[in-house]
Amino acid sequence: MDAANIVDVVSDFVTLKRAGANLKGLCPFHDDRTPSFMVSPSKNICKCFACGKGGTPVHFIMEHEQLTYPEALRYLAKKYHIEIQEREQTDEEKAEQSERESMFAVNEWANEWFQTQMNDTVDGRAVGLAYFRQRGFRDDIIKKFQVGFCPDKYDAQWKAGKAAGYNESFLLKTGLCIQREDGKTYDRFRNRVIFPIHTVSGKVVGFGGRVLDSRTKGVQVKYQNSPESVIYSKKRELYGLYLAKQAIVKSELCYLVEGYTDVMAMHQQGVENVVASSGTALTEAQIRSIHRFTENIVVIYDGDAAGIKASQRGIDLLLAEGMNVKLLLLPDGDDPDSFARKHTATEYQEYLRDHQVDFIHFKTDLLLQEAQNDPIKLSRLVNNIVQSLSVIPDDITRSFYIKETARTLDMDERLITSAVGKVRRQQREEWRKQKEREKQAGERQAQGGEGGVAALQRPSAAGDESGEPWAEGSEQAPKGGDLLGDEPIPEALTAEEIAKARNGQGGENRLAATKNDLLFLQTEALLVQMIVRHGEKVMCDVEDEETGEERPLTVVEYIQYSLDADEIQFRSPLHRQILTEALQHFKEEGFRSDRYFENHPDLAVANLANELGHEPEALSKIHSKGITVKPEEERLVELLPHLMADYKLAIVDDSLRSMMQEMRSPEVLADKNRFMDLMKRYQEMKEVQKELGKQCGDRVIN
Ligand code: CTP
Ligand code: MN
Repeated sequence: MDAANIVDVVSDFVTLKRAGANLKGLCPFHDDRTPSFMVSPSKNICKCFACGKGGTPVHFIMEHEQLTYPEALRYLAKKYHIEIQEREQTDEEKAEQSERESMFAVNEWANEWFQTQMNDTVDGRAVGLAYFRQRGFRDDIIKKFQVGFCPDKYDAQWKAGKAAGYNESFLLKTGLCIQREDGKTYDRFRNRVIFPIHTVSGKVVGFGGRVLDSRTKGVQVKYQNSPESVIYSKKRELYGLYLAKQAIVKSELCYLVEGYTDVMAMHQQGVENVVASSGTALTEAQIRSIHRFTENIVVIYDGDAAGIKASQRGIDLLLAEGMNVKLLLLPDGDDPDSFARKHTATEYQEYLRDHQVDFIHFKTDLLLQEAQNDPIKLSRLVNNIVQSLSVIPDDITRSFYIKETARTLDMDERLITSAVGKVRRQQREEWRKQKEREKQAGERQAQGGEGGVAALQRPSAAGDESGEPWAEGSEQAPKGGDLLGDEPIPEALTAEEIAKARNGQGGENRLAATKNDLLFLQTEALLVQMIVRHGEKVMCDVEDEETGEERPLTVVEYIQYSLDADEIQFRSPLHRQILTEALQHFKEEGFRSDRYFENHPDLAVANLANELGHEPEALSKIHSKGITVKPEEERLVELLPHLMADYKLAIVDDSLRSMMQEMRSPEVLADKNRFMDLMKRYQEMKEVQKELGKQCGDRVIN
């Protein structure tokens, strides 16, 4: 802590200028246009006045390098050549650590050696460097990614490594060299261009070597990779993360591509927040290391069927880890690298921005056209999406996507919700059984098996032992099934159920909306019924506001006043018409509302009046169990306030419902202000609902 000088530490990453007693520069933590980042040598701290980030040298390194506290301490210790003894290590640990350290040392040496071979030898330049340049890579990118070349000699590296003093066993353990049974040793990467693979903190854990041949078929495997070892696991590392982490944090987004050259090409186009899964199926470990930096991921696929199919399980794994997943399909036949060569940086970045879609649209876009008239395909599509929905851990996110699915497929939301629920129950059950089995299998440590719903869900995704779909001879031809892949998916919904749910244009989704409307209009009609039956009748006496004298109040007046008081109008035009006409005529001598409307020249009015008009005989004359039901006419003063309160409550419920719907819409979710605004109105309306509930008396509001 004493040794770490803030100016010194920050200057490694930020250009600082004097500003009085302090120094300032562009903040590395946000998109800073004017220098907001202040460094105080006297206090030995730094702080950004725009985004607030900063602190001690340790804090700065933690934030900037995305390291944990102990990692940051180690970083600083290394910078100042301070040895830290973390604790007494066991002999085994010492041996292992020195083994790991030796392997890292060998890799570091090899990384330099590959680059020297490429840049400083005649063959290297003519073959290796020429290869990268021919592919269109700029020299700054070639340097940034530390790519190199291994000469076409049997054991050049083996000899060079030994000559440089490295222990033979580590040259072998890192897999740089391979010993044959007859004792002869040769270089794994001979005659290949080399892509070093870094850990998130920048140590070289392994290499990928590509054949120079642009032909990829034939005897040679296109890429040779370092073998699994105590320092390297292909399933754990993400190519490019070391160079991408800052850009990922800054842009709050990570692009995921497949290949080494894709990452390089995107950097060349100015897109630095990108990592590659190196062709294997994405693993949970890899997803977690992305999640450390952001929860937003855009997966970019080569526009070929094999790529799309292979990607399917990756999507579910990402969803299960709680990531926000978007997908982007490149034009047929292109990968991010080849696509980059056809476009300018601006075009490229615009394409990336404009072509991301969420996983639902990605899947439906692929198949919906085709599936429309094919119930089997449609059912695969729907069940595939249901499957994806079911792994989303967060309830709100999940229901948001369920809505989106209902809308996109034009299906009843409730049907999808229940199908998703079904799959989730099955998953839990399976998970429980799995746990049981694990328990029974003894206290065996769960090696590698990361457990959890996601892992079960797609047993092959995480546990893809062979890892390399490119084993010789397995040309990746999509066979059978459709673009969504051909793994068996539980059939949460049958083809018939789906067909039924989508029957007719519009589907149930819209029916559900009209159903609410109908219920509302029924409540409104109860008031209209009162107008038709009893409009001109006196309900009670009220005090006249002007004269202060008591005067009779008719039913139609009461309804009009109550609506006015809350500035509401009947929603149905027919209802409005009835109210207006009743008001016009109720004072006339001998006016009877029921007769007037039942004989109305407008047939629509007359029909409605006839429907609503008569108080059922039975009801008015019932004398059963000693209870006499008074006719409506005698109960107007208690009936009407109730009906009115019911009606107002229906209005409130209705607007609460539509506000809720609005709050869930993507546009509103994306707009914080709008959302908060709606939220406030929603809460106010909730209060009104409570108030009205009280007026309704014995009614329970939920
Ligand atoms: N890969 C691998 N072994 C193979 C083939 C591929 O490890 N035999 C990995 C590499 O990390 C490669 C990625 O999968 O970068 C994607 O493979 P592919 O798309 O075939 O290669 P590209 O990256 O496009 O390489 P290039 O453009 O040089 O052909
Ligand atoms: Mn490529």
